[in-house]
Amino acid sequence: MKQTGDEMQDVGIIGLGCYLPPEKITNSDLEKLVDTSDQWIITRTGIRERRKASQEVASSDLGVEASKVAIKDAGLNPEDIDLIITATITPDMAFPATACIIQDKIGARNAAAFDINAACTGFVFAINVAQLFVSTGTYNNVLVVGAEKLTSIVDWTDRSTCVLFGDGAGACIVGKSKDRRIISSFMGADGSGGHLLNLPAGGSRLPATEETVKKRLHFLKMEGNEVFKVAVRIMAEAASNAIKKIGLECNDIDLLIPHQANIRILMAVAKRLGLSEDRIFMNIEKYGNMSAASTAVALVEASQENRVKKGGNVVLVAFGGGLTYGATVIKW
Ligand code: COA
Repeated sequence: MKQTGDEMQDVGIIGLGCYLPPEKITNSDLEKLVDTSDQWIITRTGIRERRKASQEVASSDLGVEASKVAIKDAGLNPEDIDLIITATITPDMAFPATACIIQDKIGARNAAAFDINAACTGFVFAINVAQLFVSTGTYNNVLVVGAEKLTSIVDWTDRSTCVLFGDGAGACIVGKSKDRRIISSFMGADGSGGHLLNLPAGGSRLPATEETVKKRLHFLKMEGNEVFKVAVRIMAEAASNAIKKIGLECNDIDLLIPHQANIRILMAVAKRLGLSEDRIFMNIEKYGNMSAASTAVALVEASQENRVKKGGNVVLVAFGGGLTYGATVIKW
């Protein structure tokens, strides 16, 4: 039966899981590849190491492992999943969608499946979309996956980007629940900033040719300084918008779980929001920036570490290529 606004369901996070490939790349490993130093990387980014999936592993494989844990954590079977949304900028291939590949591999035969491309904001966008499907009664259990193999699109000759990124996956099940309830969301985009962070070739604008390969156009490009400035302003705005929409103030945020882009960005966002360091979740030191998987893995680890008491306000906030930005407020 079609639901009216009055009959909207309470929607929450009913299961969580993540997967990090075991191989680590330390800063000293990178010193052997490019002209950089452990000291520079730590002080300018806060990153000590990041993970690297082996050559035969694709994003879907990482997503599958995280999904299995999340489904088990929710006490469900793969057949109980109605929809899979995968957020990734490193899909296994242009099509089919990585969500469809995951659907097949985990045996979620009753699920529809599609991908979201919102770069580092992808997991936040995907949770917000999932929340709408469940709140209207369209679906009961939505599997949301952030899965990335960024080491496959990083230019290992470019010291300004290769030190920043890593591989991993996180997943959650969005379902009917009064616990870990999604109580507000905010999403935005500014396409005029798309050139600041992109992967130029391989699409319909610049299909693969010998020349695009020679010019290294199949690797991620970034104007780091510009991205840095926008990231600080826009993540603070997104978190603030999402929390104010429901009549709360930034001071009511018990834990901010931001996209793990750069420790200096996170500290600047915290300062803008007036939050002390203990109210910011950080795992960038261990994993670097995993794009859509960053907020996903951070949400899982924040939960495992019991960083929030029941009833606390958790804000997931992200920013990324597109440009895109968004936030989700969860009443723990
Ligand atoms: N090792 C050593 N030196 C490096 C380096 C590295 N890995 N990368 C850049 N440098 C150098 C630069 O060449 C520059 O040298 P110069 O002064 O001789 O020209 C110097 O360090 C300063 O470069 P700059 O780009 O101003 O550094 P920064 O402090 O802005 O840090 C980033 C660079 C990329 C770490 C930073 O801009 C950043 O984090 N940006 C946002 C990235 C991001 O969040 N992206 C994802 C968004 S979802």
